[in-house]
Amino acid sequence: MTDDFSFATLDLDDESHENTARVNGWLDAVTRGFHQGHATDEFREKWLAAVRLDGATSRGVWESPELPLSTEVPVATFGHFVKTLNAGAAHLPARMITDVTVAPTHRRRGLMRRLMTENLEDAASTGIPVVVLTASEGAIYQRFGFGPATREAQVRVDSTSRFQLRQVPDDGGRVAMVDASVAWPTLSAVFEKHHLVTRGSLGRPTYYEAWLKGYDWQAQSEDRRQRIAVRFGPDGEADGFVAYAQKRTEGTGEIEVRDMVTSSPAAHLALWQFLADIDLADVVTVSAPVVDPLTHALVDHRVRRVTAMPDHLWVRILDVQAALEARPWFGTDRIVLRVVDGLGHADGTFSIDASDGRAAVTSTTDAPDVTLDVETLGTLYLGDVTVDPLAKGGRITATGEALRRFAALADGSPSPHCNTHF
Ligand SMILES: CC(C)(COP(=O)(O)OP(=O)(O)OC[C@H]1O[C@@H](n2cnc3c(N)ncnc32)[C@H](O)[C@@H]1OP(=O)(O)O)[C@@H](O)C(=O)NCCC(=O)NCCS
Repeated sequence: MTDDFSFATLDLDDESHENTARVNGWLDAVTRGFHQGHATDEFREKWLAAVRLDGATSRGVWESPELPLSTEVPVATFGHFVKTLNAGAAHLPARMITDVTVAPTHRRRGLMRRLMTENLEDAASTGIPVVVLTASEGAIYQRFGFGPATREAQVRVDSTSRFQLRQVPDDGGRVAMVDASVAWPTLSAVFEKHHLVTRGSLGRPTYYEAWLKGYDWQAQSEDRRQRIAVRFGPDGEADGFVAYAQKRTEGTGEIEVRDMVTSSPAAHLALWQFLADIDLADVVTVSAPVVDPLTHALVDHRVRRVTAMPDHLWVRILDVQAALEARPWFGTDRIVLRVVDGLGHADGTFSIDASDGRAAVTSTTDAPDVTLDVETLGTLYLGDVTVDPLAKGGRITATGEALRRFAALADGSPSPHCNTHF
């Protein structure tokens, strides 16, 4: 059914008039898919500069002959690039899928299915162990083996006098407002430190640089209201930053945190004290870790209120051995795990031999102790969800004893946090 179309990869380096029209058409399809404004020339230039540095691949599907009055706009788009995922015990290359759109006139004809299955085959053939994405809706990607693996808490914090930390961080560090146009190397270094120590963290695409300098990719214009504060630790090195803007809602001043990245608990709490101290606001809103030390650092924990808890990162494991050897394991035991994968990539039976926090994973012909599908393995992978609720939800098959042993090996802190959006 998808044979009537031409599937092709954009040339992101060709600046000829003809190819620029093709890139414009591709971007027009993406912005149409997400109901955003048509891409401006400035947007295209900034986008191209960023995706070139990321070595991105942008695929499109064009109808042949071309659709009437719709020059060079493809009927589907699909992009990816590779960064690293902190799997808890090691970093792994992760293919990040993005810009998935299909024109409203061409939906449900299998275009996305073909783009996705080809992409997963390509990733597997080039040795990529995990593929990740974020999902606009909750029922699309399970069929391709993706499981929701991290969530983000949407949080409202009362920053009136009710906000009180049990102990105000007093380690000799300080917080400074910085000029976004020159702060990028410092912000980038803070993110790299955070990425090193945070389970579930995913490397950031290059377009973060323009965004933190004030370019609003959604509005396609400069946002001159965004401010950035950096926390410098006692050694003078930056160990956290926050990007925010103040807005007035219902007569109340609100500090809307757009990005908050820290590499130490002291930096996290110091930046919270900074946010609570900002005048002309009595609430702070932020996307926060699900398990947030702030909750336990407050005198009154109800000051921090979770308003929503959407899923964030979806994980699709392609190489079970590489993926499971990069995550932490707890206790000393051996479990035989049967992974069922309708697309074949991760299908097999694996021996997980765990000790000292890591596991050696090998293929085996032994009888399995535990059986689950690849989607469930993705959900379990980063530790946001434990074995017990998945088993009770009918997603893991095992005898009671095997389940207890599997949980003892697989479940353990820290809980993950991914604050990369793409
Ligand atoms: C989501 C979207 C990309 C799907 O593209 P599509 O070409 O219509 O999808 P396909 O025809 O290839 O569908 C493949 C399968 O996914 C299912 N599916 C597609 N979109 C779905 C949705 N929104 N909810 C539930 N299932 C969905 C189809 O029913 C089909 O199932 P089956 O083959 O197992 O029976 C398209 O609707 C779109 O562009 N939406 C707007 C932008 C968007 O949300 N992009 C996703 C960003 S994460």
